Amino acid sequence: MTDIDYARYDRIRPIRWTGDALELLDQRKLPFDTEYVRAESSDAVADAIHALIVRGAPAIGIAAAWGVVLAARDVDADDGASALAKLEPAMQHLNATRPTAVNLAWALARMRDAVRRAGTDWREALAREARNIETEDLAANRTMGEMGAALITPGSGVLTHCNTGSLATAGFGTALGVIRAGVAEERIARVFAGETRPWNQGARLTVWELQQDGIDATLVADAAASHLMKSGAVQWVVVGADRICANGDTANKIGTYQLAIAARHHGVKFMVVAPSSTVDMATASGDLIEIEERDPAELLSHRGERTVAEGITAWNPVFDVTPHALIDAIVTERGVVEHPDAAAMQVMFGPRIA
Ligand code: MRU
Repeated sequence: MTDIDYARYDRIRPIRWTGDALELLDQRKLPFDTEYVRAESSDAVADAIHALIVRGAPAIGIAAAWGVVLAARDVDADDGASALAKLEPAMQHLNATRPTAVNLAWALARMRDAVRRAGTDWREALAREARNIETEDLAANRTMGEMGAALITPGSGVLTHCNTGSLATAGFGTALGVIRAGVAEERIARVFAGETRPWNQGARLTVWELQQDGIDATLVADAAASHLMKSGAVQWVVVGADRICANGDTANKIGTYQLAIAARHHGVKFMVVAPSSTVDMATASGDLIEIEERDPAELLSHRGERTVAEGITAWNPVFDVTPHALIDAIVTERGVVEHPDAAAMQVMFGPRIA
């Protein structure tokens, strides 16, 4: 294992807490404009999450945690227990912004616990917990990067989907962290990124993010994935997750499921990389996950300009579920679950929560 130069391989921070506001790198404007939006209230953070100014499961959770810190300013309470009920409406509002990524509900649950346990210092306790959530995410990503890269045979090519990098996390990334570590250790020789229509996280964010590190990545149309696999250029598909169920079924950006099917057909391995905050042992299987549907306008127009005939309707689910049987390895900071199923998940994460 090589020592990874994190200063080289991790340059972007999408979330900055200034002490009195949250600054969010506006991911709608990348790659050509690098602008931070300043959120001074929990409602502003909720709006930013819904609008995809900040996106990616771990980053959504971190932003929501800081949103609770902002909500605390409008609450008058002598101790944590009495603050808790008064914070609840703001937490519910944050929680409702995006339904599929479990990191959001997970981060809010941690903030609830922190305030419940706190005394008169409940505001400081909330700020400490938000900072802990962020710091732990970065550490988890670095651990997963090394564990995931270790599974990859030197000289391999990888295909990734959506954006799972520093932009989607506290830093370094999940699947992109594995790719960063794999390139640094000279295991990964070729990186391909799918466009990820309709929002183009792959085209606008992932290849740009890798370019900042000096990592060459080749962009492919989502529709080129099977053809690419057939060529023999990739040995692993490496993706992130928005929710991993108790049986290993995994929700991730729309298009992930078809990559898993194509990978199995072509003998390409399929790796899911996500922190344990993405594991949801209370949801038995992928059929029970709520799949977010977004505005059909994302499909009917490009950058605000209509590209489809008037009168056409569109369906825009933005996540899908990959059944566990198509996944070769789930990499978390706690360890690697190979050939995930309910039994293997229980060994790593404990019993299913009924
Ligand atoms: O709609 P997005 O851009 O928030 O979707 C993001 C993804 O699907 C990512 O793959 C997932 O959240 C993991 S990010 C480390």
